[in-house]
Amino acid sequence: MNISELQNKFEKQFGTAQNTRLFFSPGRVNLIGEHTDYNGGFVFPCALNIGTYAVVNEREDNVIRMYSLNFEDKGVIEFSLDDISFKDEHDWANYAKGVLSTLIDAGYKIDKGMDILFYGNIPNGAGLSSSASLEVLMGVILDSVFNLNIDRVELVKFTQKAENNYIGVNCGIMDMFAVGMGKQDSAILLDCNTLNYKYAPLNLDGISIVIANTNKRRGLADSKYNERRSECESALEKLQQQYPIKSLGELTKEQFEEGKHLIGNPVWEKRAKHAVYENLRTLEAVEKLQNGDLGAFGELMNQSHISLRDDYEVTGIELDSLVAASWKAPGVIGSRMTGAGFGGCTVSLVRNESVEAFIEQVGKEYTDAVGLTADFYVVNVGDGTKELN
Ligand code: GLA
Repeated sequence: MNISELQNKFEKQFGTAQNTRLFFSPGRVNLIGEHTDYNGGFVFPCALNIGTYAVVNEREDNVIRMYSLNFEDKGVIEFSLDDISFKDEHDWANYAKGVLSTLIDAGYKIDKGMDILFYGNIPNGAGLSSSASLEVLMGVILDSVFNLNIDRVELVKFTQKAENNYIGVNCGIMDMFAVGMGKQDSAILLDCNTLNYKYAPLNLDGISIVIANTNKRRGLADSKYNERRSECESALEKLQQQYPIKSLGELTKEQFEEGKHLIGNPVWEKRAKHAVYENLRTLEAVEKLQNGDLGAFGELMNQSHISLRDDYEVTGIELDSLVAASWKAPGVIGSRMTGAGFGGCTVSLVRNESVEAFIEQVGKEYTDAVGLTADFYVVNVGDGTKELN
């Protein structure tokens, strides 16, 4: 879908496309540092060149109308600024409404309506942050249209608040941060404890980022996600008897090994082990990348998957089969699940000349193993949410 097609669609829905503005918000993929964000650790995500587009027109009244080309069966979703409460029947639009509501609650003056047409080319519910993409997009639209001048990191925090409180999903900061702060050809090393961050140029000379979607619906994902969070909190409480820490991300391996007997529950211990080791693995991986040692980076990606499989237990047969097939495939440098897990996507680094053969072989082995068909995306690393005109 190109820009003039989007404008035509806007005109068809809302009358005129004159004076419209165009925005884009990426999806994200996390290269390493999984389930560390809410444990006060490091993550290493990047923004993608696929994401969500919005065509926006201001209105003179206080009515908001939204339409998504991805959910055409839901029709135009319309409400006034006098009632921006969550409504089941508003379905996908609640993600955008949540950001509106959060900014209004924070005291920002948003006093006019808008017509907005959305179109996304990230697969929904696949763990590439289609919802964070939409939320940060709405935040940037409101910030630009109403001249709110919100600092970008503050805006990212508001969108996380919207997801936590309005949608009711207890996610960490990683997704919104990667979407809102992304930078072309760079990944972001983010300390989720302090929100200090730095960009690391991705010098992937001759290497592609290949994302593979298991196409397994992430059925129980939210409840299992919350379960992992509370298991880590329980482990943390036990460790706090001996260590003056606020999060698992503060522990060294040695401290963890020395203090793990305090946890007193084998499941919680495994969860905490993943959080501590994955956090340190992320720092090590970024160092390897900066030294140009992609082989070592890939090896750490593989170890990350093993830890998510055996200690954190968030993979499942689909992700494990896809990753196992990727590890054996031609040209692979590293491969792991990415995002929350329980279905969703894997991320692999693959030599350019082998990408085609990789996709063919992994796709076939995956289907043979689990009977589902995987989708593959060769992606580039793009900028964070922005206006395109
Ligand atoms: C989801 C959450 C993130 C993060 C990842 C796991 O994507 O939204 O905050 O916790 O899972 O790393």
